[in-house]
Amino acid sequence: MIVKVQFITGTERFEEYREPLARALAAVGIAADLAEDHPEAEVDYIVYAPSDAAVDLSGYSRARAALGLWAGVETIIGNPTLTMPYARMVDEGLTQGMVEWVTGHVLRHHLGMDADTCRRDAAWDTRVPPLAGNRRLGVLGLGALGAACATTLAGLGFDVAGWSRRPKTLDGVACHAGGDGLAAVLSHAEILVLLLPHTAATENILDADRLALLPKGAVILNPGRGALIDDAALLAALDAGQVGHATLDAFRVEPLPPDDPYWAHPGVTVTPHLASVTRPETAALVIAENIRRGEAGEPFLHLVDRDAGY
Ligand SMILES: NC(=O)c1ccc[n+]([C@@H]2O[C@H](COP(=O)([O-])OP(=O)(O)OC[C@H]3O[C@@H](n4cnc5c(N)ncnc54)[C@H](OP(=O)(O)O)[C@@H]3O)[C@@H](O)[C@H]2O)c1
Repeated sequence: MIVKVQFITGTERFEEYREPLARALAAVGIAADLAEDHPEAEVDYIVYAPSDAAVDLSGYSRARAALGLWAGVETIIGNPTLTMPYARMVDEGLTQGMVEWVTGHVLRHHLGMDADTCRRDAAWDTRVPPLAGNRRLGVLGLGALGAACATTLAGLGFDVAGWSRRPKTLDGVACHAGGDGLAAVLSHAEILVLLLPHTAATENILDADRLALLPKGAVILNPGRGALIDDAALLAALDAGQVGHATLDAFRVEPLPPDDPYWAHPGVTVTPHLASVTRPETAALVIAENIRRGEAGEPFLHLVDRDAGY
């Protein structure tokens, strides 16, 4: 039987994924017809990364699953016509990219690269940074991305504490959960990494009260979502020196408007939502495996828990 796979991703992505996915499906023994224009009622699986969150999926009456290309789901799962199972993307290329981005930015601040390594003021200041074991890091969110970052940083010798919704065990990482756990991780974190999803429970999680729990001068890295941070509270904490620097990759409004105060603030580094992206060669393997599972009647990987919102 030939499985019909519909791309709702924009044509550019369809072109990027068509060959890698055809190869990956052949490798798991699935004969498939990949297109953007199958009649909706004939489609078996949807590959999903819509530019418009309000896509009407009600005609896809026999689709067994929608398979997302993105890790984040907050703009997708509110669609009332998304009635079939929805699997988000957990891709080893995406994870590796995030580990590299987070590690690079942690090392920038840990080593004081801006002030010391890139000196322009002719000051022969021989103070050396502490070793990693004396640098305390916090990671909020210990999922596919946060756990990989936390364990990599712990492997470099950093003193890492992490926080998740449910209790967790990770090699070399002091894992916390719940309200008291959040306070413990914040008060530990000289460098704090945000890798939480955007849900009702995480919106503005880094507000003025939580920012005040950080060690004075802490650095914040946010490759998670803009809505995790109360922006006015962060700007005030930067001005007061409570936060020493913020490197922000995700924002409430993207692209970040030219007049946004983050652009001009000397304590902020803006990166344009490029911390990591889904890589077609590796992501195609995940989609193919989920289609294989669907055809074999096995449970899908990476299904979104719509009640939890991620
Ligand atoms: N900037 C970029 O380029 C980029 C790229 C990809 C992804 N992202 C962002 O990164 C986020 C994380 O991705 P992921 O794949 O690691 O997600 P994930 O696997 O779903 O992990 C989410 C983590 O957050 C925790 N969490 C969720 N709600 C919580 C709450 N209310 N309190 C405490 N912990 C909570 C989860 O706890 P449990 O372990 O207990 O479930 C889990 O550890 C995505 O949602 C997306 O927003 C950004």
